[in-house]
Amino acid sequence: MVILYTITIQKTMNFHTRKWIKPEDLNPNGSLFGGSLLKWIDEEAAIYAIIQLDNQKVVTKYISEINFVSSAIQGDIIEMGMEVVAFGRTSLTLRCHVRNKITRMSILSIEKLVFVNLDQEGVPAPHGKREVSYIKDRFEAEK
Ligand SMILES: CC(C)(COP(=O)(O)OP(=O)(O)OC[C@H]1O[C@@H](n2cnc3c(N)ncnc32)[C@H](O)[C@@H]1OP(=O)(O)O)[C@@H](O)C(=O)NCCC(=O)NCCS
Repeated sequence: MVILYTITIQKTMNFHTRKWIKPEDLNPNGSLFGGSLLKWIDEEAAIYAIIQLDNQKVVTKYISEINFVSSAIQGDIIEMGMEVVAFGRTSLTLRCHVRNKITRMSILSIEKLVFVNLDQEGVPAPHGKREVSYIKDRFEAEK
């Protein structure tokens, strides 16, 4: 069941970042510390939002419930996938999936991570984006 979910999710998500689980990433039980994983997810999602909104002043507004369905141990390799759920007026909503490349198990999914686009004063500002774009395409458009 878990493995099937991993396979179906692959088609729409962009898995950009992998992490190699090291001793400093473990909790006292010897498995991946959830706090480390959440920090990586927040950063990965923020980078995704910054690139999509083309603005470095973006903040995390809301993260929906997190269900850790399996874990990782030292030496495992995990990868984090992001996809856009919705472009709002000032916000961008992402979905995240993390999976273990070694065990082929899902680690967690987060249905909603909401980022808000800010102006120079730190006030929510319309971002004007409506669809996903890729940096590669932007470079090619500038040639
Ligand atoms: C981000 C912040 C400026 C937004 O302020 P705000 O008064 O809630 O702003 P708004 O009510 O205009 O909402 C901004 C957007 O967030 C969305 N939003 C607000 N609360 C939300 C919630 N609980 N869930 C989902 N989306 C939400 C709104 O729908 C709006 O999106 P839209 O313009 O696309 O419709 C303010 O809440 C803040 O500074 N929060 C702290 C952020 C932070 O420190 N993050 C951690 C470090 S990065």
